[in-house]
Amino acid sequence: MRANSLCITMVGSFLTAILWAQPPQTAAVANRIAALPNGIEISQGELHEQILALRDDVLRVRAWHGDRAPEDASWAVLASARHASTAVTPANSANHAGFRTAKLFVDVDERTLEMNVRDSNGNILQQDARPIEFDGDAFRVSKTMPLDEHFFGLGDKTGPLDRRNEAFTLWNTDAYRFQESTDPLYKSIPYFMAFRASRALGVLLDNTWRSSFDFGKESPTAYSFGAVAGPIDYYLFYGPTPKQVVETYAWLTGTPPLPPLWSLGFQQSRYSYMTQARVLEVAARLRSDRIPADAIYLDIDFQDHNRPFSVNRAAFPDLAGMIAQLKAENLHAVMITDLHIARLPAQGYFPYDSGVAGDHFVRNPDGSVYSGKVWPGPSVFPDFTRRQTRAWWGTLYRDFLRDGASGFWNDMNEPSIFDSATSTMPLDVVHRIDEPGFAPRTASHAEIHDVYGMENSRATYDGMRAIDPDTRPFVLTRATYAGGQRYAATWTGDNSSSWNHLRMTTPMLENLGLSGFAFAGADVGGYAGTPSADLLTKWFEVAAFQPIDRDHTEKGTGDQEPWVGGADHEAIRRHFLEARYQLLPYLYTLADEASRTGLPLVRPLFLEFPDAASDGHPIDLDAPGEFLLGPDLLVAPAPNPDELDDYSVVFPAPDWYDFWSGEKVTLAPPDPPAPGAPDRTVRYSISVSPSLARLPVYVRAGAIMPAEPLIESTSETPSGPLILRVYAGEKCAGQLYQDDGRSFAYEKGAFLRERFMCEVRGDRIRMTISKREGSYPAWWKQIRVEIYGWTPSKNEVLVNGAVVATQIDRTDHNVGFHIPDDGNASTVEVR
Ligand code: GLC
Repeated sequence: MRANSLCITMVGSFLTAILWAQPPQTAAVANRIAALPNGIEISQGELHEQILALRDDVLRVRAWHGDRAPEDASWAVLASARHASTAVTPANSANHAGFRTAKLFVDVDERTLEMNVRDSNGNILQQDARPIEFDGDAFRVSKTMPLDEHFFGLGDKTGPLDRRNEAFTLWNTDAYRFQESTDPLYKSIPYFMAFRASRALGVLLDNTWRSSFDFGKESPTAYSFGAVAGPIDYYLFYGPTPKQVVETYAWLTGTPPLPPLWSLGFQQSRYSYMTQARVLEVAARLRSDRIPADAIYLDIDFQDHNRPFSVNRAAFPDLAGMIAQLKAENLHAVMITDLHIARLPAQGYFPYDSGVAGDHFVRNPDGSVYSGKVWPGPSVFPDFTRRQTRAWWGTLYRDFLRDGASGFWNDMNEPSIFDSATSTMPLDVVHRIDEPGFAPRTASHAEIHDVYGMENSRATYDGMRAIDPDTRPFVLTRATYAGGQRYAATWTGDNSSSWNHLRMTTPMLENLGLSGFAFAGADVGGYAGTPSADLLTKWFEVAAFQPIDRDHTEKGTGDQEPWVGGADHEAIRRHFLEARYQLLPYLYTLADEASRTGLPLVRPLFLEFPDAASDGHPIDLDAPGEFLLGPDLLVAPAPNPDELDDYSVVFPAPDWYDFWSGEKVTLAPPDPPAPGAPDRTVRYSISVSPSLARLPVYVRAGAIMPAEPLIESTSETPSGPLILRVYAGEKCAGQLYQDDGRSFAYEKGAFLRERFMCEVRGDRIRMTISKREGSYPAWWKQIRVEIYGWTPSKNEVLVNGAVVATQIDRTDHNVGFHIPDDGNASTVEVR
């Protein structure tokens, strides 16, 4: 047995040809195998493959040619994860070398270096379809693809939720007016989840060069990924549940920070509100029309000639005064700060002058500063892969923060360049790397392109924290890379005002959520074009249940604010925003969960219900258009939102309540499964007639959902009781997270967490409320409990065993009553 020592098998020559599309004909034998304490290293002539176990369920696979392994450094993967290690047990057989962890069995064919990974029950999780292929600096890794394997992730790539049968390129691109088949788009997140037979496996290719993923487009039996250059360095992580995979992805690449509470409110934007007066007019209308809202955006026209960090004083004569007035109306200002710095030597433009003085701009190979044309005209570009440059960039925010801005918007950071044939920088532009873990060196734009936007948003986030350490930054970025969730929320870029774009929003946000970006949105109403009043209304409805809810549109389009289209439309939109605001305790509790675990707010159904289909396929394939907000809310817009036909809502489990009425949903008798069919799923569904004012939303039986009295901005403190909506059902539970919504005091204990459980026992319902954790004071003294799906016979409420004097009120579908809540543990019994 080859245990923990270098064993050499010099049988046969090295693999003669591992060439592009040329699988080896001869069965060469590996000429060096080293069993490592945490994995294995196998070499075949010049080719080396190293497979390390970082945890029992996480592998890192690296392969390289020649003597020197590529630099062990990453923009995406946290050093703590990258250097994690667990002991393995060698497991070898004839011509095969490998190892076991408690959860995985890894087996490498010594003749081809092909790898096979199984779970501890012997189920194949991943299998090389052929040896790694090389073509100059490019490489491709191919895996066998069973018929029933489905793929998710890769950020917000368009198309169906399931990536199967599609191929994608990762190369950050300003995809103005992208359509359903547009690729590449703004972001590069080289991570996907494979899901098969209810088992999930994650794959992260940590390579920043132009990369590509093919999920069966080229071959019906194999999927593959590769890049034009750079390291072969990928991570495999096993669930089996998809949630575990999402959480492990967060372990590898980080979680998003807890955002300021106001960023979960409604945000109003347009390109551009041209004057201070117009901004204030929109703000005043939001307030006078009682539209719940928390933010207004300033797009590029607030600047002097579109020059980042400048102000057009003619149009915005008193920026600080305007922001103060917005604050007085409980609205936060978010300002755009694009990364291109106008090339204006000797004109007193501080970002340019200080950037030149500090040598902060990227250069051409001949040493001259690279210049490209963007909004302000000829511009230069910060070298964001240098720490010093990021620190300098961060200082540029000082004035706007002093003026009262709450958040910043990093746009055009693919980077987008107007006067370049490729719409971006030439590939040979020189970046400098100064980053812990990396050797100080230069790197071509070809290597840095896909991480450039992420490092821009990182510089903004860190800069905001450096200037105001006690306030949570809000950064919105368009371009990013794996791990970018650590610094910024994102949106899907320049979509269009069409029904199809409204439909596309859901799978884009679901896949972004699976790819680490819990805080994401799409321009509500669509960016390019002017939506019909109906489309805008429907978009408001759906977006009310998505994490970033921002209405935004392009220059030259019609107005798109909530009141556009008349009072009837406005009333519907307001109603949905009010529903969102009442649910803020639930949303914010999800935000806290995301910041701790990486679990997204918007979720595909299979994330919560991986076993919903008897043959283990993702149940979302049967439920197009539906999504979950957290574990408990099922949102079911029409799969084709412009069609007037009835449609069926498919439920991943049998027991649900109508969110709006509170009524238990009576599900149609399920179709009997077809005899002998591999999928014997019983599909619970109802038929729904679409209507403009209605969006079907359901609550999982067993949910305890925290809600609050209506506020019109998160700056207001709700008055009245905390509301707990208890939906009687199995495993009845819920929780609540609160804090000041703005600072980092929660890290030092100034938060509040309360857990709720309930149990229905025939004629009584028993609820337990945990003792509050954390020192943050509650705004309520009472809880209003609303119980759905159960009615008391005695109309009696007991708290800690003693009958309390409370009125039980009843509606058609719930009973409600108030109990005191002083933060101590209590039991509540209703009978
Ligand atoms: C880009 C952004 C868009 C913004 C515009 C002007 O197209 O994607 O949201 O309004 O630039 O800044």
